[in-house]
Amino acid sequence: MSRDLDALCAKPHPIPQLITRPAAAPIFPATVFACDSPEQASLLLAGETAGFVYSRDGHPNALMLAQRCGEMHGAEQAIVTGSGMAALSLALLALLEQGDHVVASRQLYGRSIALFCGEAQRLGIKTSLVDTCDLQKTADAITDRTRLLVTETIANPMLRVADIAGLAELAAQHQARFLVDNTFASPAVCQPLAWGADLVMESITKIMNGHSDVMLGLLCGRTAAWQRVPMVHTTWGLFASPLDCWLAARGLSTLGLRAARAGENAATVATMLSRQKSLLETSYPGLPEHPDHEVAQRQFCGGFGNVVSFTLPGGRPAAQRFIAAAADQIPFCPSLGELFTTLSHPASTSHRGLSAAERSTLGIEEGTIRLSVGCEPVAGILQALEDAVGSAVA
Ligand SMILES: Cc1ncc(COP(=O)(O)O)c(C=O)c1O
Repeated sequence: MSRDLDALCAKPHPIPQLITRPAAAPIFPATVFACDSPEQASLLLAGETAGFVYSRDGHPNALMLAQRCGEMHGAEQAIVTGSGMAALSLALLALLEQGDHVVASRQLYGRSIALFCGEAQRLGIKTSLVDTCDLQKTADAITDRTRLLVTETIANPMLRVADIAGLAELAAQHQARFLVDNTFASPAVCQPLAWGADLVMESITKIMNGHSDVMLGLLCGRTAAWQRVPMVHTTWGLFASPLDCWLAARGLSTLGLRAARAGENAATVATMLSRQKSLLETSYPGLPEHPDHEVAQRQFCGGFGNVVSFTLPGGRPAAQRFIAAAADQIPFCPSLGELFTTLSHPASTSHRGLSAAERSTLGIEEGTIRLSVGCEPVAGILQALEDAVGSAVA
């Protein structure tokens, strides 16, 4: 008997009924889910029944990841997006309208500044950049049109730490929403909602996933600030792929272990670098001499993060010598939160859009190097750094 292969090939695959629970979460790559009836489809699409119809609106892997991230932050709501920048765009589009005003940290990630000062401006939204570590200057920048205050928990690359509770109070006094980019900290180090933030965004691409193989973002927070988020998420198409969500959920299972190990390594590295007489400056919020050490001690719940910055004397030539000498052990990868130690050169990457004078006011020189310390045995990292500093400043 010949089988009708064409008909068989085109049939939906039967999904086995499981009587045991798999130890790993399944991946649901389906873009669409079959509905029982028009009534069911209509209720699902309206969000009146929980479930899935079309994966741009939501799918099981995004839901699983968002729920886990939300729990880590103690959030009432959470959603994942295709990148960290998509999460920030989501917040901007959901919270702001033409004529609104934003007060944002001058030390935000470069693309975030471009989003608020360039793209948002095109939509008629004005942004004032301030030093959010200075509460008075931040208060002075708020106007009666200010609807949003934005800062990072730990700012790149000098690792300044914002007083989240103080900023939350300020935002509340002016009926503005307060959004914190918690990428450099992750919930393992700081949970800004507990300090009064309305919304938290993170680049899951970094330490949340931690394996350099996924690009995703998170937005989570209070229901009161959430009204337009689901509609903007699906209508602007800020979708996160099921495979990426699955990988990130797997990465997230070891966030606590990785953040603790990388944080301990970073503290050891920062202490070693701060004792190197040949360096101009070492920045790490865990060092007692860091300007925001006390705020960090109060606000952080697990170490001081895994990023350390330092400045070599001798400008860019010294930085180039350092990068070349370290390359075999510590690759120049302009990102952070990888499993292994990486380095970046802010003057030529994240802050290349600023003038030398603007960089200098932020403490960034041509000789500034930013390390994202990883989970390898710390002795090897220390040795590689000592050798590379020796080659750079010899
Ligand atoms: C602090 C911070 N926020 C947001 C982003 C954007 O995240 P993504 O690259 O996932 O879009 C980055 C990326 O480097 C970042 O460092």
